[in-house]
Amino acid sequence: MDDDTTAYYRANAAAFFADTLGVDMAPLYARFLPLIPVGGQKILDAGCGSGRDTRAFLDRGYTVTAFDASAELAALAAAHVGQPVQVLRFQDLEWTQAFDGIWACASLLHVPATELPDVLSRLARALRPGGVLYASFKFGSGEREYHGRRFTDLDEAGLATLLSQVQGLTGLDTWTTGDRRPGRESERWFNALLTTTADAWSNI
Ligand SMILES: C[S@@+](CC[C@H](N)C(=O)[O-])C[C@H]1O[C@@H](n2cnc3c(N)ncnc32)[C@H](O)[C@@H]1O
Repeated sequence: MDDDTTAYYRANAAAFFADTLGVDMAPLYARFLPLIPVGGQKILDAGCGSGRDTRAFLDRGYTVTAFDASAELAALAAAHVGQPVQVLRFQDLEWTQAFDGIWACASLLHVPATELPDVLSRLARALRPGGVLYASFKFGSGEREYHGRRFTDLDEAGLATLLSQVQGLTGLDTWTTGDRRPGRESERWFNALLTTTADAWSNI
């Protein structure tokens, strides 16, 4: 059965697709893509929504795997990017050393705080050694519900606590930005770039 947040993204897929497809994320790509190990080609767009960023990475020559928990958004994204998009939840990820980069833009923020350590450990396992994970959250702390969606907010201290519970990931960089949608610039986002440590795959 769907959780409330997934039910929201299933019911509002068309409106969400239209609202987010055109947002220019180039400044964030410019932080993430240079950290992909030299020769790395494979990116996972995790919680891809409209497929906007999958399309951008494909256009830059990367091989991209994309998934989303909302079947309706996955179908819209697949049509937009011209390749299949999997219907999958972070909590069920099983890849091992499959990707050079993982892009989790505004998506992990919907994972309950108690589930984030396991989800991040799964993402670490899915990366190849030296691979990079980008994740963004609403800036803040604690969990809240807003208009039918649940959020786990994060700041520097929250990320440090989270990483202490995760096997296989360490921080590279963090910074805050305004929302890139017109009229919502005052909303603050917490951005993090993480990379693998040697124990990412020790439980395999
Ligand atoms: C705010 S949207 C961001 C979408 C896209 N990454 C972007 O930046 O436009 C959050 C996305 O995460 C997906 N999502 C929420 N919970 C998820 C979960 N547990 N597993 C996978 N995707 C999830 C939603 O369906 C939605 O597409």
